[in-house]
Amino acid sequence: MADRRVDPCTLSTPVDQIVTTKLNLDWDVDFEKKTLSGNVKLDVKILKDGVGKLVLDTRDLSISGVWNDATNEKLTFALQDPNQAVGSALEIQLPSSAQQKESSCCIRIEYQTSPSASALQWLNPAQTVGKKQPYLFSQCQAIHARSLIPCQDTPSVKAPYDAKVTVPRDLVALMSAVRSGEEACSDSAKKTYCFEQKVPIPSYLVAIVVGALESRDIGPRSRVWSEAEYVEKGKEEFSETETMLQTAEALLGPYVWGQYDLLILPPSFPYGGMENPCLTFVTPTLLAGDKSLASVVAHEISHSWTGNLVTNCSWEHMWLNEGFTVFVERKILGRMKGSEKERHFQCIGGQKDLRQAVETFGESHPYTHLLPLLEKVDPDDAFSSIPYEKGSTFLFYLETLVGNTDDFEAFLRAYIEKFKYQSISTQDWKDFLFSYFQDKASVFNEVEWDKWFHSPGMCPVLPKFDTTLSDACTKLCDRWCAADFMELEEFGASDLKGMSTGQVIEFLSQLLLKPALSELHIHSMGSCYKFDDTGNSEIKFRWLRLCIKAGYAKIIPKAIEYACKTGRLKFARPLFKDLYKWQKSRQKAVEAFLENRENMHPITATMVAKDLEVDTQQ
Ligand code: BES
Ligand code: ZN
Repeated sequence: MADRRVDPCTLSTPVDQIVTTKLNLDWDVDFEKKTLSGNVKLDVKILKDGVGKLVLDTRDLSISGVWNDATNEKLTFALQDPNQAVGSALEIQLPSSAQQKESSCCIRIEYQTSPSASALQWLNPAQTVGKKQPYLFSQCQAIHARSLIPCQDTPSVKAPYDAKVTVPRDLVALMSAVRSGEEACSDSAKKTYCFEQKVPIPSYLVAIVVGALESRDIGPRSRVWSEAEYVEKGKEEFSETETMLQTAEALLGPYVWGQYDLLILPPSFPYGGMENPCLTFVTPTLLAGDKSLASVVAHEISHSWTGNLVTNCSWEHMWLNEGFTVFVERKILGRMKGSEKERHFQCIGGQKDLRQAVETFGESHPYTHLLPLLEKVDPDDAFSSIPYEKGSTFLFYLETLVGNTDDFEAFLRAYIEKFKYQSISTQDWKDFLFSYFQDKASVFNEVEWDKWFHSPGMCPVLPKFDTTLSDACTKLCDRWCAADFMELEEFGASDLKGMSTGQVIEFLSQLLLKPALSELHIHSMGSCYKFDDTGNSEIKFRWLRLCIKAGYAKIIPKAIEYACKTGRLKFARPLFKDLYKWQKSRQKAVEAFLENRENMHPITATMVAKDLEVDTQQ
């Protein structure tokens, strides 16, 4: 395998020359100007003679000065012209005391973020549920940290951090760290919050939120945070958190991060969940009322090991984060429901997501590789279910070859123990796999490694999954597809009786991969199953897509409304794309997007603008 350790998505000094060993942040949050201003102190260690300068990633930052923090000596710096995909390099002349191998220094950078920082969304009070206070949150993965902090913005560098955040007195600030105190401020209208993240983390895991936040305890080491209106609902929905944490610990070893809190964000949050250490961020679309979407929490909890302890060294190796995490997430859910069948059912669902992703890109597209090349590529453009589902299926397949789930779980534990606190490549993982299972060399020789890593499209081998739980979904799906108009009256609400929410979702996913249904079929399905009224976002999303696919024009306003309201990329992008493909809704979709763009999350706005072929600079 041509193993690439260089990260093509950073402009910063490579890790074999200089590494950041600690970050210290001091920010003032200004809702009027929509800026964070203050400084970052970076402790850096020089690993080679004659490096001379430190290069950091930035995007849209205004830098007012750079100092050697120990001596207060001003340092010469230059900000290079921006590159669309990766931002602008900030070059800093290192002090004379930090020229040699093994030397170190602390660089202080005074700066301010831009109101259009890609990592941040600034919401005015009208955009919140409470309507009274403004709100700010960050999303740094994959390469948005550079719009927040000048740093080595690559997952190959890990450092602990401290932070002080000053905000309007009535608001609460939280970070991806342990809360270490509050201080009064010389300006009595403001308040300062202190944070400490002692575990070394990559830059993409730095996170901040500021808003009118409240919390409820949901376990011995967990609280749920949100605006007052969501907090009780969240407490119910995520009541299984501690059980999930304990199940994950039984699988992978101790949870090292202290606190595990959840934050429910406004609907514009672009992801289902984000594994910010100590404080997972989740979309409010998980609040289904029946815990049926809590698998996202199991996923983010799993990242506390796969991703946050053992980290991919670049986004080309993202499957080491996401594929492993999906694999572990399904182990947790399987154990909690006491059934391997449940785990297999989840895997079957994942295959549908993989097929959708392959169809969206096209089956020979390079982004469908497990290890894509990301030279001069914005990783947000390459993002899809591929590393999740191809990656976890690969692990499932290897588990089958090993022949025993206990042995494979022991391997996973050993893998975490071996690589925790490090950033690794696919080759590192593969070498360890071979050294761990020395007696399995002949079995592993069967594996078409190159095909798995570097061929496009679906998986080279599909493991056999137990279909017990999906059979009912397949049966109902086939019945709908085969039904002629006369037979439509034979369907009724009772068809879904005895099906879990997950099975209803699987039924709809299967239908979406079939040829379009007729408008009459859709009409009947809507009146039997009442999908228009569902409070479950996964059902609603698939139902809207199914209606659009069938050319059911009545759905257009609802689909547009939902696409605009939810910032969650997984829902908004396919809906906007479907609406754009369809002549009848195309113009309305573009108009609705342009009207809403100002209120959208910057990441969602950028991605949807690309999908709708609207000028991204506008
Ligand atoms: N780390 C990801 C979210 C992410 C990926 C943010 C890439 C930015 C770039 C998170 O753990 C995740 O995978 N979320 C999924 C949840 C799921 C697979 C259960 C999501 O957002 O849907
Ligand atoms: Zn994930």
